[in-house]
Amino acid sequence: MSRGLLLVFEGIDASGKSTQARRVAELHDAHFAFEPGDSPLGVDLRRWLLDASTPMKPETEALLMLSDRSHHVHTVIEPALGRGRDVVLDRYFASTLAYQGYGRGVDLADLRAATELAIGTCQPDLTILIDIDLDVANDRRARDAKDRFESADLDFHARVRGGYLDLAHEFGDRWFVVDGSRSEDEVARDIDERLAVLAWTHG
Ligand code: ADP
Ligand code: TYD
Repeated sequence: MSRGLLLVFEGIDASGKSTQARRVAELHDAHFAFEPGDSPLGVDLRRWLLDASTPMKPETEALLMLSDRSHHVHTVIEPALGRGRDVVLDRYFASTLAYQGYGRGVDLADLRAATELAIGTCQPDLTILIDIDLDVANDRRARDAKDRFESADLDFHARVRGGYLDLAHEFGDRWFVVDGSRSEDEVARDIDERLAVLAWTHG
């Protein structure tokens, strides 16, 4: 049996990546997964990670994200891929590089080394970055209670977006950048065109 594909969606908050990731998972009968918080341990980690009333050092935040990821890879992602199931993942290690590295200023070389420890050889086959203007994202974001990241200032989100674009440049054709400021249908059309050339196991 061949190993499943690992497709990752990345982007700043409210870029529309969860909408597209869920749609693609359904379309291709793939397993939908997300970070942080997609395991019993992850549920607890996510609660602390998003709780804006618990201040923590950026390094602590990064290590909790990486703990969640390590456990997720071991208990959810690798087992599914090993069974030949395609996996569509809403956020992966690039989120930590963009948010904790570019956004919070944690050393990028340290984060990359720790990422290797967390994910081993579990690399995505393709990462789709939904890039969006900060003002457009802000308009889409719910106006109610904000979590630790949603309550961060505009400069933080600008650094995160810039970080993602740097990473897209670095990873070349292993990443695909989509302009997420357009309608859901237009974004979906670009994504589906790129995904048509992948060797999906199902669908
Ligand atoms: P993310 O996972 O990146 O935070 P979501 O997919 O949850 O983003 O979308 C955030 C909000 O924006 C949701 O209310 C969603 O329905 C809406 N949305 C998603 N894509 C678009 C789009 N292309 N145009 C307008 N609104 C969108
Ligand atoms: P998520 O549930 O994906 O929120 P959204 O739907 O708004 O994208 O992620 C929760 C928050 O966690 C989000 O603001 C990004 C942040 N995050 C990091 O800072 N580092 C990480 O490694 C991950 C996976 C998420």
